[in-house]
Amino acid sequence: MEKISQEEFQKLLTSGKVLEQDSFGIKVVETNDDRIIKTFRLKRLFSSAFFYPYALRFKHNSEKLLKKGFKTISVERISYCREEKRYVVIYPKLAGETLRDTFEAEPKNIQKRLTDLALLMAKLHKEGVLFRSLHLGNVLLLPDQSLGLIDVSDMKVFSSPLSLQQRIRNFNHLLRYPQDYKVIDQFGMNRFLTAYCEAAELNSDLQKKLFLEFKI
Ligand SMILES: Nc1ncnc2c1ncn2[C@@H]1O[C@H](COP(=O)(O)OP(=O)(O)OP(=O)(O)O)[C@@H](O)[C@H]1O
Ligand SMILES: [Mg+2]
Repeated sequence: MEKISQEEFQKLLTSGKVLEQDSFGIKVVETNDDRIIKTFRLKRLFSSAFFYPYALRFKHNSEKLLKKGFKTISVERISYCREEKRYVVIYPKLAGETLRDTFEAEPKNIQKRLTDLALLMAKLHKEGVLFRSLHLGNVLLLPDQSLGLIDVSDMKVFSSPLSLQQRIRNFNHLLRYPQDYKVIDQFGMNRFLTAYCEAAELNSDLQKKLFLEFKI
């Protein structure tokens, strides 16, 4: 992996607008030439992130998703700055905005978007993808009105479709954010799961269990 100096690291992080930061520093920058720079902090030595850094997982996961036909970012450059103990990943920005932002801006299309999200989840699950960072801030509405995924470092790909327990876990990932829960609840969990089940080709026994889990 490419090593960069502290000076180069600082130069990269000041090359655009800060989109996300926390108490440890800048996390996401949008550059003036439409790229996204994302940094990953090495939190602990000898953790799983030490042996398999999140920046690399991010790159590998996006490649796996693209290969399976999902829309997501494509990593251009990945580097490590030893002095900062941070990895840097650079990728072209996908045009569009997050579902969370679109819902705030134009609530009228929520039904179509949530149906599409249910279909996207069904396709991910059929392909064995457990996308743990699933929430409305990590799904982009692209200019062609289809949905794309960002923030892909926390994900696992299995060789067969997800089990019922894994599917339930993934619905719970989505429902843990109160603002996302509210939107889906207003749309109707029943409608959301019905759209999902139609696309997921689950047998009726599994469908029943899934509905029961969400008390429908
Ligand atoms: N490829 C992209 N195209 C457009 N916008 C993006 C893209 N990648 C990131 N963004 C914007 O940057 C924001 C933050 O990016 P991202 O979700 O990857 O990081 P994060 O949420 O800060 O990370 P984490 O979930 O690990 O804390 C997104 O909500 C989105 O608005
Ligand atoms: Mg995010």
